[in-house]
Amino acid sequence: MVKNKKLPQGAKPSGIKGVLLATLMQWVHGGEYRAVAEALRLEHDDRFLELGCGSGYFLSKYASGTAVSSGLDHSADMVKMAARRNHKRAQAGAAEFRQGDVSSLPWSDGSFTAAAAIATFMFWPKPHEALTEIHRVLRPEGRLVIGLGWNADDGLDHSRYVKKYGFRLYSGTELQALLEDAGFSEVEITYTKAFMEPKLMICLAVK
Ligand SMILES: C[S@@+](CC[C@H](N)C(=O)[O-])C[C@H]1O[C@@H](n2cnc3c(N)ncnc32)[C@H](O)[C@@H]1O
Repeated sequence: MVKNKKLPQGAKPSGIKGVLLATLMQWVHGGEYRAVAEALRLEHDDRFLELGCGSGYFLSKYASGTAVSSGLDHSADMVKMAARRNHKRAQAGAAEFRQGDVSSLPWSDGSFTAAAAIATFMFWPKPHEALTEIHRVLRPEGRLVIGLGWNADDGLDHSRYVKKYGFRLYSGTELQALLEDAGFSEVEITYTKAFMEPKLMICLAVK
């Protein structure tokens, strides 16, 4: 378990190195963004929240047509980067970015119709609290999509990176149990392939 004082760059990209890493992630995570967007099926009337939004690339490319899109990240530099990238929508009042932790969301109950967490869930120190919070801010029938490129079902040895980056590997069964425990009623887990992710897990949960 990595202590809070100095998280690795992947868990909390900061400074110039963090900005460079976030820029690189835009390309590396391209396949994961597409798979998450396909599962989310965002519509014009959706109010969308991205948890651990990083550079804000997914929001600008796949959520720019929604009624509202919001991004949350605990890295101040990522919030700045995402806000800069989406400044036109933000100026028009259709996008906002906040700094905070996923286990305590700064929005009222039922604020969103859809949410996503891409390549971030494995870093969350309090997964149950975070999923309960996401469930709270979603409206009834609201959907959450979680993308986990590296996971306990993919057959790869991630031990070196688990230690280096301080993340946790989840199996589909574990993730399903956590989501049901947080109150989600329908959970569907599928697998696909993406760059450097031979068994990318895509989890769709409905409130
Ligand atoms: C590997 S990056 C992925 C960024 C983005 N989703 C993407 O795919 O480009 C993980 C992101 O999750 C954020 N993050 C990790 N743990 C978090 C937490 N507990 N609360 C809020 N943000 C978190 C990090 O700051 C980072 O921006």
